[in-house]
Amino acid sequence: MKQLFYVSNTSLSFRGKEDIEDILSKADSYNNQTGISGILLYHSGLFLQLLEGESADVDHLYSKIFKDPRHSNLTVLFDIAATQRIFTKWGMAYRDVNELDIKMVNQMLSWTRLIQGSKDIDNALILKMLEQFKERISIDQLPNLAKE
Ligand SMILES: Cc1cc2nc3c(=O)[nH]c(=O)nc-3n(C[C@H](O)[C@H](O)[C@H](O)COP(=O)(O)O)c2cc1C
Repeated sequence: MKQLFYVSNTSLSFRGKEDIEDILSKADSYNNQTGISGILLYHSGLFLQLLEGESADVDHLYSKIFKDPRHSNLTVLFDIAATQRIFTKWGMAYRDVNELDIKMVNQMLSWTRLIQGSKDIDNALILKMLEQFKERISIDQLPNLAKE
């Protein structure tokens, strides 16, 4: 299996909350069917997304996501073989990144370096930072529960 992490910019056709809901509902069915997990982070015009799963499945989903007109300038920050997942419970966890989250990221690594994809960022550190997000996601943000 592998973990792929990218950053992108929302495009002019991105409609905010409405599109986030559409993306999460697609991910909820598709990712659970194909055994993909991960987290989608959104903050002022930026997406950061971790995709975890079997290599061919992650590549196939990434190629669909790549073509999605709601974002552009996709930059893969890492694409690495992995032995375990971080987001086992979610088809796609979601976080609307807030200022406290950014403080947390800045304590671990700089938010600006993260979104600019500096080559000197350690992947292990990014994965640790994503684990912090896992702890922060409250139960009411789970797409599965939100639908009930
Ligand atoms: C930032 C972003 C993240 C996305 N993440 C997922 C995802 O995890 N799973 C998924 O099925 N679709 C995701 N999508 C939606 C896909 O790009 C695509 O719209 C969806 O898979 C439906 O594709 P289809 O109409 O070819 O079946 C994402 C889209 C964007 C813009």
